[in-house]
Amino acid sequence: MKTMELRVTVNGQPRKWAIAPGDLLLDVLRREGFFGVKRGCEKGECGSCTVLVNGRAVNSCLMFAAKVQGCEVLTIEGLAEGGQLDPIQGAFLDHGAAQCGFCTPGMILAAKALLDKNPHPSEDEVREAMAGVLCRCTGYIKPVEAVLAAAKQPDKRAARKRRPAEVAR
Ligand code: FES
Ligand code: FES
Repeated sequence: MKTMELRVTVNGQPRKWAIAPGDLLLDVLRREGFFGVKRGCEKGECGSCTVLVNGRAVNSCLMFAAKVQGCEVLTIEGLAEGGQLDPIQGAFLDHGAAQCGFCTPGMILAAKALLDKNPHPSEDEVREAMAGVLCRCTGYIKPVEAVLAAAKQPDKRAARKRRPAEVAR
C-alpha cells in the first residue's frame, strides 16, 4: 500500500505518522489512540467526530488526514492540562451537561472554538455553534448553560491559552 508521512501536532505534541493518502482524519486519530474522537454517522451529520484544526471545528470523518499536514489538531484528550479540567469541561460537569457523553467531546470542542473566537457570545451564538453536534439526551439546555457559564470565567480561560506548539518538521 502506498503510504506518506504525516507531520502534525496533536494536543501540543509533534507526531509523525505513516498514513495512506486516502485515510480519513477520524480513522487516523482513533488508530493512534485518540478515542475521544467519536465515530458516529461518518457522513458529516452528527458532529461527534469534531476536532479543532488550527482552532477551527471540523468533522474529522469528512477530512483526509493528509489535509492536516503541518497543522495543529486538538482533541478532547488535549484539553485538560496538568490534571486540571478546561473551564468548559468544568462547567459541563457543574451543570450536568453530559448524559450518555457520546456527543460531549464534540460539544466541548465546538464550544472552545466559539469562545476562543468570541469570548462573550450570546445564547443564540452558543446555540448556533453547538448546532453541528447532535445530542439525543440533553435537549441542549444544560450544555448551552454550561458554555455561557464558562464564558463568564475569562480569567480562567485566558490563563489556559496554549503557547503555540512546534509543528514536527
Ligand atoms: S461521525 Fe463525523 S459527523 Fe458524524
Ligand atoms: S449526552 Fe447523550 S447524545 Fe448528548
